[in-house]
Amino acid sequence: MEKDSDHILIKAIKQKPIERTPIWIMRQAGRYLPEYKETKNEAGGFIKLIRNPELACEVTLQPLRRFSFDAAILFSDILTISDLLRMELKFIENKGPVFDHPLSTQKDLDRIGKPDEIDKLHYVFETIKLIKKKLNNEIPLIGFIGSPWTVATYLVEGNSSKKFNKVLRILKDDKVFIERLLDQITEISINYLQRQVHCGVDVAMIFDTWGGLLEKDEYEKFSLKYIKRIKKSLDLKKIPLIYYSRGLKDKLENLGTLDVDVLGIDANLNPQIIKKKFGNKFSIQGNLDTEILKKDETEIVEGVEKVLSSFGHGSGHIFNLGSGITPDIDPEKVKLLVDILRDISPKYHIK
Ligand code: CP3
Repeated sequence: MEKDSDHILIKAIKQKPIERTPIWIMRQAGRYLPEYKETKNEAGGFIKLIRNPELACEVTLQPLRRFSFDAAILFSDILTISDLLRMELKFIENKGPVFDHPLSTQKDLDRIGKPDEIDKLHYVFETIKLIKKKLNNEIPLIGFIGSPWTVATYLVEGNSSKKFNKVLRILKDDKVFIERLLDQITEISINYLQRQVHCGVDVAMIFDTWGGLLEKDEYEKFSLKYIKRIKKSLDLKKIPLIYYSRGLKDKLENLGTLDVDVLGIDANLNPQIIKKKFGNKFSIQGNLDTEILKKDETEIVEGVEKVLSSFGHGSGHIFNLGSGITPDIDPEKVKLLVDILRDISPKYHIK
């Protein structure tokens, strides 16, 4: 049995020699799996599922039974943290997260004021402990939070807006409000991720999905600054930290001062560019375009080869998609992807 620290995922992060490229995929537990849909129905919906440690543990493990992934990721959501702000999170089928009373004024911030005790998220911590027991230290578990900016976009918009008009307007008009909100989210995020670390996650990840919405200077001031604060305040107990964002192509300068182990990138950024700019400062996670999983085997092989060769030879790469897997993907294509990677990635590593 492998110890966690000897696991291929951890070795890839530490850029130690390995024989093949490890893989997991974002949203690996999700609606493309029929067994997920069944368990979600049994729980009575998505919110009830993430609040039920037994069933959340079960869906975390489902993709690992089907595919030889090299990591498990906690089944939860970046928006559970809204519990601590007494903002009721709802999920509408095929629409996504909804808050009935989104935030837009200083008065709203007074309302969410002092956050509730972190123990309110006990269901997450119980889920982590259950998963860790079941994984038996054979596969590392990834815990996560959303970046303060990305979480803020949902708390202000009140839903999955896609346009972000409201939050971008408030960013222009009321910087004091935005900074106060980001401060509040940052404080609870540190606590929340710290507690996940105490409960035994092996890797921590920050999803800054909407960091790329911000212009260069704003990205530094309203997103990265808070990520850096989280990193500084956390005692990670030597576990690695992954930072994922989209749309970073024109913001690479900003990343030079970011102290994380892995950069998770979308399908529009070439890993080679990051390596050229930063050498081996970061390991890289990504970045196959999810759409390629709708194509046939030849095109999937081509896609995988392209990602592998753009990273190049050696350790320091974790294979993943550039964004979360979508419900329209056939699980057989995921199996094919994992098999193809096992077949062709060894040539990029030690003989
Ligand atoms: O398998 C995993 O990746 C772990 C669990 C996980 C979920 N969400 C489960 C989920 C993780 C790590 C997240 C992160 C998350 N949540 C992000 C950042 C990553 C990304 O996708 O960019 C964001 C922005 C959210 C907020 C969120 N959650 C939205 C906007 C939506 C609706 C859109 C969608 O993809 O369905 C969700 C729902 C959600 N989170 C589902 C799952 C499995 C689907 C729920 C369902 O309808 O069954």
